[in-house]
Amino acid sequence: MTFADLLPELTLAEKAALCLGSTFWHTAPVPRLGIPALMLSDGPHGLRRQPDGNQAGISGSLPATCFPTASALGSSWDPDLVRRIGAAIGAEARDHGVSVVLGPGVNIKRSPLCGRNFEYFSEDPLLAGVLGEAHVTGVQSQGVGACVKHFAVNNQETDRLRISADVDERALREIYLRHFERIIVRARPWMVMCAYNRVNGIRASEHHWLLTEVLRGEWDFDGVVVSDWGAVRDRVAALSAGLDLEMPPNLGVSDTAIVAAVHDGTLDEKILDQAALRILRLLDRAQPSADPAVIDHDAHHRLARAAAADCAVLLKNDRDILPLRPDAGDTIAVIGELARTPRFQGAGSSQVNPTRVEVPVDALRALVPAAVAVDFAAGYRLDGDDDEQMSVEAVDLAGRARAVVLFLGLPAGAESEGADRRHMDLPGNQTALLTRLAAVNTDVVVVLTSGSAVRLTPWDRHVPAVLETWLAGQAAGGAIADLLLGVANPSGKLAETLPHRLQDTPAYLNFPGEHGHVRYGEGIFVGYRGYDAVGRDVAYPFGHGLSYTTFAYHDLTVTVTGTTADDLAVVVTCTVVNTGLRRGKEVVQLYTGHPAGPPRELTAFAKVDVAAGAREHVTFHLDADDLSSWSSRHRRWLLDGGTYTISVGASSRDLRLTATVDLPKTPVDAPLTGESTLREWLADPSGAARLKAAIGVDADGKPVGVLADPESLTVLGDFPLQALAAFPRFGISQAAIAEVSDVA
Ligand code: BGC
Repeated sequence: MTFADLLPELTLAEKAALCLGSTFWHTAPVPRLGIPALMLSDGPHGLRRQPDGNQAGISGSLPATCFPTASALGSSWDPDLVRRIGAAIGAEARDHGVSVVLGPGVNIKRSPLCGRNFEYFSEDPLLAGVLGEAHVTGVQSQGVGACVKHFAVNNQETDRLRISADVDERALREIYLRHFERIIVRARPWMVMCAYNRVNGIRASEHHWLLTEVLRGEWDFDGVVVSDWGAVRDRVAALSAGLDLEMPPNLGVSDTAIVAAVHDGTLDEKILDQAALRILRLLDRAQPSADPAVIDHDAHHRLARAAAADCAVLLKNDRDILPLRPDAGDTIAVIGELARTPRFQGAGSSQVNPTRVEVPVDALRALVPAAVAVDFAAGYRLDGDDDEQMSVEAVDLAGRARAVVLFLGLPAGAESEGADRRHMDLPGNQTALLTRLAAVNTDVVVVLTSGSAVRLTPWDRHVPAVLETWLAGQAAGGAIADLLLGVANPSGKLAETLPHRLQDTPAYLNFPGEHGHVRYGEGIFVGYRGYDAVGRDVAYPFGHGLSYTTFAYHDLTVTVTGTTADDLAVVVTCTVVNTGLRRGKEVVQLYTGHPAGPPRELTAFAKVDVAAGAREHVTFHLDADDLSSWSSRHRRWLLDGGTYTISVGASSRDLRLTATVDLPKTPVDAPLTGESTLREWLADPSGAARLKAAIGVDADGKPVGVLADPESLTVLGDFPLQALAAFPRFGISQAAIAEVSDVA
């Protein structure tokens, strides 16, 4: 007997109650039938299980491993790592009796200003999709559900419960839904959380097209759709749209409204049954496991440390100044309050209460060779106020040190759920200090801590090295020490572009909107797609990241088999050689471009671990889906056909090898009618023949009417036949159109 079998036993009121929670974090039990309540808890980068006495609070959750946030994990480009972290979070959840972890957050980083970017992976849907899929797979490998959020087009915090994200269908499909599709189809999450915002005017919680037609109809989602906490306004409309579970429960209101709507006929009881059944099936999936999880918190901490090291992006490293190679007797100056008071996660619902925290300056002290001194000066205040005394102490220390490690970053108040940032700059007191330190010591290495893109121009030119560590979890301090001293080799690559200026960002003119609407005016040209399309110089491009070793790319081959979109297979191979002196990981990135799309789009990638001097052969398998774009006219994915460029390289702007291939176009079954243009008629061999026959020829057999002058195609080619019929001299009559059209 399953819980799903109990559906017929439930009364109307019980079914309505089941579609709301019973507490802030629990589904509703039905004790009469032995149906238990399930517990949900926040993620995504660790478990936030609130203690029973403080359910609605944000702080004070039970201790759990705080892994790197998605901003950091995005830069790992390593699905296996993300899967292992997901599994660790799933195990901790199971240990706490939590059935579903509310994550991963996979929204696209449309603007660097989004206050929640630290919870999201990337500006690119492929990268966000691959990593989101890995996270879900990892969590669910532990018998615990994952909940992909926030569905959909939730790309800002400003007015987040009311704003309408107004986005065209191509951008919606190619950028804002594509990764959700991948995660749902491939990883089969137990739950999807709807977003707070509206999408093209309709609340996501009441969006039938999103929640039912696309999510279930097209992608075959078989789990539960839960509301974001407080996203439901009209419970009956939401239920009809496909939203199964309302959280937190609006008890006594929503359940009453559901029952009343069934009674007065405005809600078909079958819809309620479906939602109740999905929740019962969730209960069946979430059966407590026979073998309770045994949590090795030390092992999870070690995983968090290794992960944080794999996420850091070495943005620049002039003179190979990193890793630091201090000699006995040297002093390393560690400067910056953030080295002592680290910031390793963001604020809001994702905030984990860590099991322990590694402090960077302590971790460095523990790792430097004997007889190397690590001296510390705070240098600046985190509240942004100037403090001359602190600056002077830091400058003094820098002046007598062999090298300076300067910790800069966004203070906690700068990034949080609930608010967008207003600019991309670091606090002025920090960059002012940097200039003063660089004047007394040429070897200043900046360690950056931020959950989203910050502006590095122009301060980065004053220092030889910058290591962006993001918000990398409770073990970030140790990982930073490992990276600075070469125990670990950086292998992170930017999952988001770092522009020179906020004004350069593609969404700049349309963020965060006004009067309840934000227009996604840049369309598909989000992130690097936009910078590349207009040829804009950026500080550090998407995909960029250095290593302590170097890689060369050789032998690109591209083999195309198949002639139709159905059987097309493109196999791309290349060889990556580690040309440096130490082992390192390289992210081999494959970009494709074609005339109907942005200059290049990430189409596949692989992170490879290569010993010094060794080579790795990399193979990518692409099919038509990987190369298609969304046709708003035909409302489907199409291979546009024509010449495609296929490049592999170390970043979106460091393409090492490029080939071109000609690919077929997906034939579209578009009937020729009076609304089809002259050009469309003439492009179709049968249509052209029929049209020519209908227009006829002159006595000498030469074309007449609109076909008499081939140059007229330039002016008239985009006219639908119906419009041409208004001009008698073109020789196309309404009767002729009716005769030759495919459909009447
Ligand atoms: C957030 C969700 C979160 C939920 C529960 C909401 O405010 O948007 O991401 O899972 O609260 O805490």
